[in-house]
Amino acid sequence: MKIFIDTANIDKIKEIHSWGILDGVTTNPSLIAKEGKDLKTVVAEIAEIVDGPISAEVISLDAEGMFNEGMELSEIHRNINIKLPMCIEGLKATKALYNEGIDVNMTLIFSAQQALLAAKAGARYISPFIGRLDDIGHVGMDVVAEIMDILDNYDFDTEVIAASIRHPLHVSQAATIGVHIATIPYDILKKMAAHPKTDEGIEAFLADWEKTKNL
Ligand code: E4P
Repeated sequence: MKIFIDTANIDKIKEIHSWGILDGVTTNPSLIAKEGKDLKTVVAEIAEIVDGPISAEVISLDAEGMFNEGMELSEIHRNINIKLPMCIEGLKATKALYNEGIDVNMTLIFSAQQALLAAKAGARYISPFIGRLDDIGHVGMDVVAEIMDILDNYDFDTEVIAASIRHPLHVSQAATIGVHIATIPYDILKKMAAHPKTDEGIEAFLADWEKTKNL
C-alpha cells in the first residue's frame, strides 16, 4: 500500500519524508488554510520535498471553473494532481482534465455509486472518506471494501485513496482489503510507528547491556 500524508504542513511532510516511507501528499482547502500561505506556494514547496503525487484542490463549483483552476495548478509541477469534489460538475471537469492528460483525485466520495461514476469519468484517484462516514453511524470501511470489489471487476486505471483516516486501525484495515493508498494525518503516522512493548523492550535491552559493563 502506498502511504500519503494528509497535511499541508511543510515541517511535518519533511519529517515523515525522512522516515523513507512517504509516497505522496494530499491537501485540501482546510489544511491549506491552517498554514497561512496560498495554495500555489504550499504545493510548490511540497513538490521540492516529495517526489510523488501531490493533490491540490480547486474551489470552483462549476465544471469550467474547476477545469481552469485545474489547468493552472497542474502547471506548478508535473507531480500535481487536481482534487475535485464529487458532484456532476466535478465529473464533467474530471473528464475534461483527463482528456488533457491531467490526473484527478475525486474527493468527498461517500458511496460506491459515486466511486463508480468517478472512475468512469477518468479519475486517477478516488478518495472515500472513512472517518466522516463512521461519524454519521455508517461503517466507512465497508464502503471502501465495496468500492475495491467494484474496481476489481473491471479494468479502470483508478486507485483508491483511503481518506478521512482517524486512527491506526483504519490504516491496517484498509491494507487488509488491498486499498491502493492511504492518506494519513501526521499524528496517526506517529501512532503507527509506536508500541509500548517496543519501548519497554528497548529499555530492558539497554538496562541489561549496562550490566555487561561491570563484567
Ligand atoms: C482527503 O484527501 C482529505 O484531505 C482528508 O482525508 C479529510 O479528512 P477529515 O475528514 O479528517 O477532514
